[in-house]
Amino acid sequence: PMIHADLVQPLSHQITNEAYASQLYLQMCLWAEDRGMPGASAFFRAHVSEEMAHRDRLVDYMIEAGAPIKLQAVPAPEAEYDSLVAIVKGAYEHEQKVTQQIDDLTSLALERRDFNTFNMLQWFVAEQREEIVLFRGIVDYMNLAGFTGAPGDALVNLDRYLQQLASAK
Ligand code: FEO
Repeated sequence: PMIHADLVQPLSHQITNEAYASQLYLQMCLWAEDRGMPGASAFFRAHVSEEMAHRDRLVDYMIEAGAPIKLQAVPAPEAEYDSLVAIVKGAYEHEQKVTQQIDDLTSLALERRDFNTFNMLQWFVAEQREEIVLFRGIVDYMNLAGFTGAPGDALVNLDRYLQQLASAK
């Protein structure tokens, strides 16, 4: 088989993890939409399809390898947030968690000498680096500007900044 037996279940599980990320960002998008923050809404909305593309990349790899995929229930994402600041920090923390998941998969692929999977995962390693740089940048921007998430000019500023990031993608 093209995929080492020990990688089949973890890869299947990562398909669910990526679906969860998509749901999480959709919930964040809806939170922002509900509060009239078009920039934040657009930013998180763009990430919904991005995470689905991550999921599909894993699905396609497993189909190509003829490996069975067992889908699991996607956990409900957190829906209550105190502010946009809490959301951005939550998203950053989530990307750190996904980076750990990808690193664990990559280590396992290397340990089992599954070089096809190891090679496929390189794309995710690079993608996670981009995601971390992106989200850390927003957290840095928030800290620099001293955002608290309270309504006012600072929040409008942050929403515009997210709109710029969404448009730049
Ligand atoms: Fe699928 Fe945002 O990492």
